Amino acid sequence: LKDEKVKVTFVLYDGKRLETEAKVGDTLLDVVVNNDLNIEGYGACEGTLTCSTCHVVLKPDDYNRLPEEACDEERDMLDLAYGLTDTSRLGCQITLTKDMDGLEIKVPETINDARS
Ligand code: FES
Repeated sequence: LKDEKVKVTFVLYDGKRLETEAKVGDTLLDVVVNNDLNIEGYGACEGTLTCSTCHVVLKPDDYNRLPEEACDEERDMLDLAYGLTDTSRLGCQITLTKDMDGLEIKVPETINDARS
């Protein structure tokens, strides 16, 4: 089904909540870009897996039901992210599915651009 929407909420480190309507099939990076979310420095490499500025922290349940695990390249990049957690992923590598409606993710405070 095309153009299906899910609700995704980005919770910033200061507690600010950015609620968005996101398209199924988009990545979390797409959601930030398409909705003009004001998250400083997010997605610097535009999804080419060469930064780690799109680091997000998922709730354990959400993390465990992601359809795809992190690939080696994503894992390498995550290692460079500040504040890495057991449920960290890179937002540019998470593609929204219908059953992710209501997803809530945390955006860590410090963004580390691995390119610099
Ligand atoms: Fe750079 Fe995701 S946007 S790794």
